[in-house]
Amino acid sequence: MEAIERQQFSNPWNRDYFAAELGNRLAHFHVAVALPAGEIAGYLLFWRLGGELELHKIAIRRDLQRRGVGERLLEHFLETGRSWGCQRAVLEVRESNAAAIRLYEKSFFRLVGRRKDYYCRPSEDARVYEFDFRGGEPGS
Ligand SMILES: CC(C)(COP(=O)(O)OP(=O)(O)OC[C@H]1O[C@@H](n2cnc3c(N)ncnc32)[C@H](O)[C@@H]1OP(=O)(O)O)[C@@H](O)C(=O)NCCC(=O)NCCS
Repeated sequence: MEAIERQQFSNPWNRDYFAAELGNRLAHFHVAVALPAGEIAGYLLFWRLGGELELHKIAIRRDLQRRGVGERLLEHFLETGRSWGCQRAVLEVRESNAAAIRLYEKSFFRLVGRRKDYYCRPSEDARVYEFDFRGGEPGS
């Protein structure tokens, strides 16, 4: 996971950061495994705060991107929230992160706001997206 972080993020989480999250009772990890070797293909981390889920991280190994793994992890996250009876899921994403924005919008997240200079290294605004489990995708 540290290697994927270094590939994908300008301010990657290190081992200590992941270890702290593993000890955080609010935090949940979903991990996608690439067969047959069983290597980590990607992961998703979120916090459960009562009826609200905060998506903090989703990352897919670069050579395994564009194969539907991110979308499947996000679907699993939403299935989990729905099965827990949650009301909504929220996330922030860099304004320039076109791939993630397309993924969230394809998965029926709705743009609900912006946070000025939310990110550092480099400084950038965040878009705030919400998924409403009471609405959700058509047909749910
Ligand atoms: C964003 C990310 C998780 C997508 O994972 P992925 O497994 O490559 O995505 P999928 O193959 O499941 O694609 C699902 C949809 O996302 C969108 N998408 C994914 N990568 C894209 C890209 N490079 N450009 C445009 N749209 C993209 C598309 O809408 C795609 O649907 P389509 O294939 O029908 O067009 C991956 O690019 C990643 O790890 N990025 C770096 C980390 C990151 O930015 N995380 C999000 C912020 S925390």
